[in-house]
Amino acid sequence: MLHWYDAHARDLPWRNPPGRAVPDDPAWPYRVWLSEVMLQQTTVAAVKPYFAKFVETWPTVEALAAAEEADVMSAWAGLGYYSRARNLVKCAREVATRGGFPKTEAELRDLPGLGPYTAAAIAAIAFEECAVVVDANVERVVSRLFNIEEPLPGARKAIRAHAEQITPAKRAGDFAQAMMDLGSSLCTTRDPKCLLCPLAGRCAVKANGDPAKLPVKAPKKAKPERKGRAYWIEQDGAVWLVTRPGTGMLGGMRALPDDGWSAQADGSGEAPYSGPAESLGAVRHVFTHASLTLEVVRLEAKPIGHGKWWPLSKLEEAGLPTLFAKAARLALAQS
Ligand code: ADE
Repeated sequence: MLHWYDAHARDLPWRNPPGRAVPDDPAWPYRVWLSEVMLQQTTVAAVKPYFAKFVETWPTVEALAAAEEADVMSAWAGLGYYSRARNLVKCAREVATRGGFPKTEAELRDLPGLGPYTAAAIAAIAFEECAVVVDANVERVVSRLFNIEEPLPGARKAIRAHAEQITPAKRAGDFAQAMMDLGSSLCTTRDPKCLLCPLAGRCAVKANGDPAKLPVKAPKKAKPERKGRAYWIEQDGAVWLVTRPGTGMLGGMRALPDDGWSAQADGSGEAPYSGPAESLGAVRHVFTHASLTLEVVRLEAKPIGHGKWWPLSKLEEAGLPTLFAKAARLALAQS
């Protein structure tokens, strides 16, 4: 794997070249941490521009710790899973207070928002600890290599045990990233390119079947369908935007005012506004735990509560998360 990685590693902006000692520079764990948080549930292609923007705006963990949470939330807009951005600020403040990132997997686990995956990835990649890093790519490669037929998520224990067995004491960070690169370039979910794979000769599933059949996944539960309404209140070339409460769905993000759909099981919230209303249609959005149909309603109403008039000409800069950016696009197409 390491030989293959030496020749084929992707050149990524947060990555140390293969085989090179990790630079003794505090900017390094910061960049590894930031990239790993961004890469959870998000593709490398989607992360690259956000990573570039973040390290330009906040080049050190101290700079990020000193940032206004609202600025970080709006810089994150569009990346999704917004609790990551809230935890990012919390974690940066904790790290700055401690005077730097802790260096071991166990201590990293104590930081806000760092789960087992991220703690292991930072320990291995930034601090060269022999930590075992298991993400979805690694799960796919390992389940095929050892022909683990038990369905996920139950198979995680066996996958982890096998990953532990093959993680080398030295270059564990390179090894983890080699597995990720192999999983995303050759050992892909569909049409794996086994002819080019450095592990093909040892791959148990290849020896006796079709690699693409693994990993087996338990059937997904259908996502609940939610319904809600968002309100488009426009005046003198500006639209009324609010900041959502700090916790809960899209917490802390700028948004169109709505009927409280996210807090209601059946999405039957009440409009906090009254006045002549006109439906502009609906947008669909899929969250991790639910699918939402959000009706966009133009209201002739006096806004209430905390918010601000945002010039339509500068709406791009409002940092709206994707759901509300879709709703705004729908409204603007009809104005
Ligand atoms: N996905 C998550 N972390 C990654 C990394 N360090 N390199 C490539 N893909 C990744």
